[in-house]
Amino acid sequence: MGPTDRASSSLQGKIAIVSGAGSGVGRAMAKMFADNGCNVVAVDVIPARVSGVVEEIVGGGKKASGMVLDLSVGGDVDKMIEGTLRSFGRIDILCNNAGIMDGARPVVDTPDDVWDRVMSVNLVAPFRASRRAIPSMIEHGGGVILNTASLAGVFGARAGAAYTVSKHGLIGLTKNIAASYGKDGIRCNAIVLGAVQTAIGVGSADPNPRGMENLNKTMATLPRVGDPAEVASVALFLVSQESRYLNGSCVVADAGWGAY
Ligand SMILES: NC(=O)c1ccc[n+]([C@@H]2O[C@H](COP(=O)([O-])OP(=O)(O)OC[C@H]3O[C@@H](n4cnc5c(N)ncnc54)[C@H](O)[C@@H]3O)[C@@H](O)[C@H]2O)c1
Repeated sequence: MGPTDRASSSLQGKIAIVSGAGSGVGRAMAKMFADNGCNVVAVDVIPARVSGVVEEIVGGGKKASGMVLDLSVGGDVDKMIEGTLRSFGRIDILCNNAGIMDGARPVVDTPDDVWDRVMSVNLVAPFRASRRAIPSMIEHGGGVILNTASLAGVFGARAGAAYTVSKHGLIGLTKNIAASYGKDGIRCNAIVLGAVQTAIGVGSADPNPRGMENLNKTMATLPRVGDPAEVASVALFLVSQESRYLNGSCVVADAGWGAY
């Protein structure tokens, strides 16, 4: 039995929430987790995306259900956890993946509504979901939390102010959860992404020129853009027992971009 088979066997029947499962990285994670035995709860704000990913997984003979929720709203984050507990009785894996960008706006050009929305989706929702899920995970002997972070959570010029702060915060949240609840059987890690081919930039406002000037300098060293499936296979390792010695880790998946 190789590592992939062992990862797969450790995931059979696990209840796995994936937020932002309707597109890009989350969609690839949801499919990869379901293909490896998880019963996936796919959460997204766009109804057609939720039905699309659930139909694809179930159509392939694997297990998934969906919830349409706006995770910028605290009550909806609670519904994600409570609804899953009501339906399945436990949560084995919580993948806080939903995220939005900020138009590369630096501080002076960041209005309150952009700051608040980016923080609420990228940072407050993972905090709130973890706060509600951890007691139940502990009650059931443990669990795994995986947060989707970014090189913008490690460096200062990969995005605007709100996104950069939200992802730095998410990495802090990851480490604090790991340190606080590792002894209770909770593992919390982050996957730190470089540039992945997804819909995240589509439809966003015109990027800020000052922010783009910074970003373009870093883009010059980008080795290549990743495919969501390449990220999902790292996520599979991180939610499986194959990574049982990892807790509070920030695993960089970026083709070496952060090495520059
Ligand atoms: N694509 C990249 O280059 C890149 C780089 C670094 C980090 N990331 C992170 O990866 C994660 C996934 O992003 P992606 O690139 O797959 O983008 P994406 O836009 O393709 O997918 C994100 C999904 O999250 C959903 N979502 C957005 N706001 C939501 C809300 N309020 N409630 C519920 N769902 C919501 C969207 O509808 C979408 O389906 C994000 O956290 C993002 O910050 C992406």
